[in-house]
Amino acid sequence: MSSIVLPSYNKNILRAILSLKLADRTLPELGDDDVLIKTYAASCNPSDIAFIQGGYNIVKKLPAVPGFEGSGTVVDAGKRMKNLIGKKVSCFIQDDIDGTWADHFIGHRHNILVLDEAMDMDQAACFSVNPFTAYALMQIAQLRESQAIIQNAAGGQVAAFIRQIAKINGIEVINIVRKQNTADILLAEGFKHVFVEQDDDFQIQLRDMAHQLNATTAFDAVGGPNSGIIFNAMPNDSELVVYGGLSNKMITEIDAMEIIFNDKIISGFNLVDWKSEIETDDFSIILNELQQMFIEGILHTKIQGIVNFKDIVQGLKIYLGNMSNGKILLKP
Ligand SMILES: NC(=O)c1ccc[n+]([C@@H]2O[C@H](COP(=O)([O-])OP(=O)(O)OC[C@H]3O[C@@H](n4cnc5c(N)ncnc54)[C@H](OP(=O)(O)O)[C@@H]3O)[C@@H](O)[C@H]2O)c1
Repeated sequence: MSSIVLPSYNKNILRAILSLKLADRTLPELGDDDVLIKTYAASCNPSDIAFIQGGYNIVKKLPAVPGFEGSGTVVDAGKRMKNLIGKKVSCFIQDDIDGTWADHFIGHRHNILVLDEAMDMDQAACFSVNPFTAYALMQIAQLRESQAIIQNAAGGQVAAFIRQIAKINGIEVINIVRKQNTADILLAEGFKHVFVEQDDDFQIQLRDMAHQLNATTAFDAVGGPNSGIIFNAMPNDSELVVYGGLSNKMITEIDAMEIIFNDKIISGFNLVDWKSEIETDDFSIILNELQQMFIEGILHTKIQGIVNFKDIVQGLKIYLGNMSNGKILLKP
């Protein structure tokens, strides 16, 4: 199979990207619960970028094929999975095996989602991770009965899904971005509460808005001082849920008094843990609900470009140049 291969981890993102090469790899034999998937498209997420830098919690034996997520058609299957041959699937694979940046990859019973024929296969390449993350995060806000939430990295795709799910549930969203042009786009799309983290009066305005709307849940994908600033700005009895570390910085600036006297807490969210804890029947209901929202166009991943595997370097540079513009899909 033709694959994008990572020879070694490199903290320097440019060097890591430049080291990626196309190569032929041999796939292992299928296990009884495995399927062989012919790739339609593979996505590139911040976790893939962190992975090739060696900065993610998943470390594979090298050389390895990156790619945690993708879509395709089942073309072969182990003995207990034969009924899936010919089915369209979306996958989220974090096992220590070759990933989705290849013309074929191996999925397992626990990491494939069998799709409706009506599902668009480009959208399916970005279906297994972000929509479920947004859904699960919004479950936290709803359980906490928050009337409003705060989120940073608000130009990204998880954030876009959160806005959509929040709107359906009548929950207000305070959005934080790092660039003025991302803020302008969100404002032009009709979103009211948008802050740029570099603005002089950002902290004061965020605090005022958080108290005014009673935003008692925040979703933090950035880390660093940004986390503390949001945490301190929230009203009493709030929860900051950390689900990403895009800044690559330690969380700082948290005012201890806010934790001690104002009943505020910080927690973490990880999709893999959420999936392992949810009942199978409940997950099937959520899968159907989300898939239907994609088929009806209520949810949609913004895709800024589609590149062939051989153009991986150019593709990743475009993605990293403006992540808020949307995902880059990789195709064989
Ligand atoms: N815990 C989990 O289970 C889980 C699951 C899914 C996703 N995630 C995490 O969720 C986060 C968002 O993922 P995504 O797929 O939605 O991302 P995305 O669509 O690729 O967009 C990333 C967004 O983050 C912004 N950003 C990047 N670096 C930043 C920084 N240092 N400070 C502030 N903003 C920054 C980008 O803004 P620019 O346009 O300005 O670059 C862009 O709007 C990532 O950290 C990802 O790892 C976690």
